[in-house]
Amino acid sequence: MNRILIFGATSAIAAAAARLWVARGARVHLVGRSPAKLEALQQDLQVRAGGGAAAISARSADLDRLAELPALLDEAWAALGGGVDVVLIAQGTLPDQAACEASLDETLAQLHTNGVAVVALCTLLAQRMAPGSALAVITSVAGDRGRQSNYVYGAAKGLVSRFLQGLRNRLASRDIAVVDIRPGFVDTPMTASIAKKGALWAQPKAIARGIVAAVDRRADIVYLPAIWQLIMLIITGIPEKIFKKLKL
Ligand SMILES: NC(=O)c1ccc[n+]([C@@H]2O[C@H](COP(=O)([O-])OP(=O)(O)OC[C@H]3O[C@@H](n4cnc5c(N)ncnc54)[C@H](OP(=O)(O)O)[C@@H]3O)[C@@H](O)[C@H]2O)c1
Repeated sequence: MNRILIFGATSAIAAAAARLWVARGARVHLVGRSPAKLEALQQDLQVRAGGGAAAISARSADLDRLAELPALLDEAWAALGGGVDVVLIAQGTLPDQAACEASLDETLAQLHTNGVAVVALCTLLAQRMAPGSALAVITSVAGDRGRQSNYVYGAAKGLVSRFLQGLRNRLASRDIAVVDIRPGFVDTPMTASIAKKGALWAQPKAIARGIVAAVDRRADIVYLPAIWQLIMLIITGIPEKIFKKLKL
């Protein structure tokens, strides 16, 4: 598991995972949107990798642009020497739910970034990945049940989780692992506007450790931190007649 390809690489969670993989001697290809953030991350990882020029490559790209995805994959495969062991898909945005309710365009844009574009990437990756490799995708606990405060994001993440379930079933016979990573609340730039309090908030480093471990053991679905599996079991178990009256 030495050749790692990361989409949405400048995400706080993905960057923390990249540092862990590089510390283990991995070769990494980064795809991220912001050129400045990407360059800073590439340099940081290059130093950690011991300065070997071949170890860390990067490409800036807006992953909403689906027509560009095949060329991005060609380039990533070439940069990693013709094969990939692990792919991590991490890009995402946290929608303003009220703005989505007021605008169809905003709703569709959020569904595109968090749902359709991820599914498109997984579809193309599945055509290329080899037996023994692993595809890990960061979804969210929000995909487990729709709730009024965040259901556009939840719908997109739920779409991806269900897609991964089918893809995992299809690729199991080829020994390709499909790992659905479902974090709870994580303290990252995405959640900067939310007041972060309480024991349920995790740091990106802790989530990254969970991602690397999940890929190592070729897990199917992981809740990070693990307590979220119990929380979501309770939340999804509430009868709809009661749930629809809750202000969640
Ligand atoms: N933070 C949480 O509480 C939480 C909880 C559950 C799941 N997640 C998921 O975890 C993943 C990582 O998020 P994070 O918490 O680490 O937040 P983050 O640091 O804000 O990372 C989000 C990343 O997505 C990238 N991105 C967004 N749209 C993109 C596009 N069209 N093309 C390319 N890159 C794009 C952003 O790039 P720019 O830097 O260029 O904007 C940014 O690097 C996301 O999928 C998120 O939904 C987060």
